[in-house]
Parts: sequence; structure tokens; C-alpha cells
Amino acid sequence: MKLFVYHTPELSPKESCPDCAVVIDVLRATTTIATALNAGAEAVQAFSDLEQLMQVSAEWPSQLRLKAGERGGAKVAGCDLGNSPLDCVPDVVKDKRLFISTTNGTRALERVRESKIVMTAALVNRRAAVKYILKKEPGTVWLLGSGWEGGYSLEDTVCAGAIAQALLPQYQVGNDEVIAAIALYDQWKDNLLHLFEQSSHGQRLLGLNAKADLAYCAQTDILDILPIQSDPGVLVPFR
Ligand code: MLT
Repeated sequence: MKLFVYHTPELSPKESCPDCAVVIDVLRATTTIATALNAGAEAVQAFSDLEQLMQVSAEWPSQLRLKAGERGGAKVAGCDLGNSPLDCVPDVVKDKRLFISTTNGTRALERVRESKIVMTAALVNRRAAVKYILKKEPGTVWLLGSGWEGGYSLEDTVCAGAIAQALLPQYQVGNDEVIAAIALYDQWKDNLLHLFEQSSHGQRLLGLNAKADLAYCAQTDILDILPIQSDPGVLVPFR
């Protein structure tokens, strides 16, 4: 069984998919997805394209849907929510489907959505992802960072390292990025918030007054929930 880390969708091998793809966008899409499902959302349906989100969500009963849109860190006009996990409380999301489009995270999901198993992970639900993989033992696992517009993101790689470290006793290292991600996690695991504050997207979010989001996203293993793809782009909770 082999484990690979790819920092961005663009760096992953073209025209192939693994047995299990773990999409990571710690700041903030995959943290938001885990939080929404944990708070009782029926499902999260992800779109890279905002227009498509608007079209598909319009066919859903209005009292059972929420539109969440983010570009450049900010909420998209015409959506109910942006991409803050802190907005995903039971009073807001319970029993609703969250139709979401974000700058990078939902694009990464689209890249691997043909994989046999697709899940999303962040630090908040890292243990749930590890537990599932160790139980199901898929042959090839990709930990896929979402990055920022094709570039590297510290927060996604540190989370990949946190997951990889827990899988390595059972999995072989598939590429050098696995070792690098674990080294990054080892160095920062006791001070993840400080790392996020220095990262480029962390800086962007601080500029948008989202300091509380950074603090929330920097927590490890606080949610025992795993978003798993049931249909292309649709994530449902696995507990
Ligand atoms: C993304 O998909 O790029 C992020 O989740 C952006 C954000 O922090 O809202």
C-alpha cells in the first residue's frame, strides 16, 4: 500500500486517480465542510463553478438549501454564507444541503472526483480520516493539497504531514513530498496557529478580519466526522 502527497491539484499525475483521494484545504474549505456536516447539514455539494452552483441549487427546495460562495477569501454576493467554518452552527445548517464553491478547495475536489473513495480532511477531523484509511486499507492513497491558484500552501502540506505520519506504519512512502510534509508537521505541530499566521493565505484572511477562523482551523482532532463522497461532488457524513 502506497501513500503520495501532492501539494496542489496541478502537481498530481494527470489522467489517473488513486483508490483513495483525500482532499485537503485547511484554510478553509475542508474545515468548513467537516464543521457543517458535524453541525447536522444533510450534505455538502461542491462546485468549482459558481454559475453551476446557482443553477443546481435553484432546483433544491429553498428551505433546505444554503449557498456558500467564496472568492479571494471573501463572501460572494448573492450567497447565504461565505466560507467561514464558524458560520456553520446547527441553527443555520441543520438538515440543509450546503451548496459550496471556493477558490481552490472545490477545484481540488473536482480533480479527483472519479477516485474510488473520495474524502475531505482538515486538521479538525484528521483522526477520523486516518481511522477510515487504516480500516479500509485502499491500495493507493493521495493526500491532495488545494494550494492557492496553483501555488503551494503551508497549511495544506502540514495537514498532509499530520495524516501521513499516522499512516506510515502501514503505508509505504510513494513520493518525496510525503517525507517533506511529515518534517513540516513535526516542526510545527505544537504551534500550528503561528504557522498559519505566517502563511500567505493566513495573512490574506487576517486582512479580512478572520483571525478567529485561523484559530479554529488550527485545532487538531476536534471533530469525529468524515465527509465522504456519495455522488460526484456530494459529501455526506461518515461517523
Ligand atoms: C479556498 O478554497 O481557496 C479556500 O477555502 C479559501 C478560503 O479561505 O475561503
